[in-house]
Formats: sequence, C-alpha cells, structure tokens
Amino acid sequence: MSKIFEPIELNNLKLKNRLVRSATWEGIAKPDGSIGNNMYQIYDEVSTGGIGLIITSFMSISDNDSDFVDIMRLSNDGLIPYYKKLTDIVHNNNCAIIAQIALGKYYKNGKHIEPDEMSVDDIKEVTNEFISAAKRAEIAGFDGVQIHAAHFFFLSRFISPLVNHRTDNYGGNSENRSRILVEIIQGIRKIAPNLHITTKINSSDFQYGGLDEKESLEICKILSKYGIDSIEVSGNGTSVPGIKPHKNEGYFVPFAKKLADTVETPVIVVGGLRSKDTMESILNTTNIKLLSLSRPLLREPDLPNKFFDNKSEISKCVSCNACYNSFEHRCPIRQRELQK
Ligand SMILES: Cc1cc2nc3c(=O)[nH]c(=O)nc-3n(C[C@H](O)[C@H](O)[C@H](O)COP(=O)(O)O)c2cc1C
Repeated sequence: MSKIFEPIELNNLKLKNRLVRSATWEGIAKPDGSIGNNMYQIYDEVSTGGIGLIITSFMSISDNDSDFVDIMRLSNDGLIPYYKKLTDIVHNNNCAIIAQIALGKYYKNGKHIEPDEMSVDDIKEVTNEFISAAKRAEIAGFDGVQIHAAHFFFLSRFISPLVNHRTDNYGGNSENRSRILVEIIQGIRKIAPNLHITTKINSSDFQYGGLDEKESLEICKILSKYGIDSIEVSGNGTSVPGIKPHKNEGYFVPFAKKLADTVETPVIVVGGLRSKDTMESILNTTNIKLLSLSRPLLREPDLPNKFFDNKSEISKCVSCNACYNSFEHRCPIRQRELQK
C-alpha cells in the first residue's frame, strides 16, 4: 500500500492519510471575522477531496489586527458558532481540521509597534490572546491549533534576530526569542489539553541577519522539548513560482529532513510538492511524517482522491501564483475549465 495513504496517529490527532491542506487564505471573511456560505463551500469541497487534515487559513487572534480586512478570526466568543459550523462540515466529510492561529501585527493604541517597543505586559497580552483563541478553537470543534510563526508575521518577526533586539528575557538568544512560543504552547496545553498543538515555522528568513537554518533548528529543538505536537516547515518566500515536477519540487524538504532526524516531534513539510512518486519517496526515505499542499488543491481539490484511485500521478498546478490575486484566491485556470 502507498505510504501516502497510511493512517497515522499523532498526539491528540488521528489522520486517515499523510496529506495535509496547508493554510490557504481565501480573502472572503467579513471584517469582523465572521464567515458565510462561500467559505463553507470551499472547506466542503477540499474536505471531500480526500485530504486527511485541513489547516485553516490565517485566523487572527485579535479584533484589531487590521492589515487584512478579509481574514478569519478567533478573537471573540461571538465568532465561535460560525466556526462550529465549519468544523462540522469538515468532520462530516471524514477529515480533521486545525485552526491556524496568527497575529499579523501588534497594534497598541491604534499604532503598529514592533517587538522591540513592546512592554512585557504587551507580550503577555498577545500570549493570552493566542491562548484564548485556542480555547475558542476547541469549543468550536477544531482538532487542534497551528501557531503561525512563519512568513514574517508577528511571531515570525518576534523570533527573528533581524527584528527582535530586546535585551530582556524575550530577546538576545534563541531561547529568549522563542520564549513567547513556549509560553503560548504551555498556556494552550493547560487550558485545552485535548488539542493537537502544531506550529508553522520558517526554516530560514532568507534575509541577511534573519533567522537561518542553524537557529531555526535550535528553536525547533526548544519547541520539541516543551512538547509541541508537530512542526510544519516553511520559510519566507513561501510559495515559490515555477515548480516543475521531478526538477525543483519540495524546496523545504532538505531542512525538514534534517529536522526530522534531529527531533522526535513529527515533522510536516510544505512547499512545491507536486508528484505522487516524489511524495511517496519522501515518506519512504526520510523521517518526515506528513506532506502539506496548498496551491495543488486550489487547482484540484480532489487531488488526494485522484492519487488514491491512480487517476493522476502529478498535480496540474503550474505554480503561477495567479491564485494570490484571484477572486476567493481560486485557481483561475480551474475556474476557466469549470466554465467550459
Ligand atoms: C493563495 C494562498 C494563500 C496562502 N495563505 C496562507 C495562510 O493563510 N497562512 C500560511 O501559513 N500560509 C499561506 N499560504 C502558503 C501555503 O500554505 C504554502 O506554504 C505555500 O503555498 C507553499 O506550498 P505549495 O507549493 O503547496 O503551494 C498561502 C498560499 C497561497 C497560494
């Protein structure tokens, strides 16, 4: 049997196969973070396509995270019913779902401030907002939460030596810069012990003076020590264009492989996975446990079923990134096909 379709059990999470839908921003939530039928339809479509686990798009932990007006939010209790409906739809389709909890930027009195300018009380406020959002995720029926520490959003900036120059317990070295992540993990574990807690992290910031692979590995080791349940490896410049099957697939696999050899924590890899045999080979020849896909599922939401039924060996996604600018971030090539 194909290893891709072997079930797996992680802490607080049972999956029917090794394929994960990586967080993919739809751009259709209302400014207050509520969602409607167009969002439910997207999650219904992806969860009937055979994927084992969906990680939602960026769900802000804060009501005043105001850079994006169209993101989902878990920032107040009034939003819980909207997301309970979402998790029910996905679970009814025999698929697990994790909420990606995130903060774009931190605003104090309406002004954006960077980690260096934050007081310890400000840091505690953000930490508590992450923990409260996770509790809401649990009440809404999510199987877990993904702490978004990648792509240079707030937490990714906080752990980066390029941005964080603090001289207190929250800056200066890997342990101090990752303390906020550890405190979020510990707080969530206490208040919602049945959630799977994962994180998405940059293998590298790919910027001079930023987080590099050596330090990212150090931080992952710390998170592993403090009981994170899985780690999804990404990096800045996350959606690399021009991926060709068997040529430049799986651009974060080398780091993810190293990480999976270093920590016991299950490792998920995302980024440019396009062919079934490459995916199979990653699972068979490395300690990486799960494979994550974003753009291929915009192109073909039922790609996992096609792989399973041997109806396809290669994703039709050409990694053009037109999805980033299209309505509901759908794949325009697929939309044209559907209209024919
Ligand atoms: C339209 C679009 C929206 C995305 N939104 C998110 C997001 O909300 N959070 C996140 O962590 N990554 C997001 N990503 C990045 C993907 O999760 C993934 O890491 C990246 O696209 C590489 O994987 P792929 O080659 O399978 O697309 C997004 C990607 C795309 C194409």
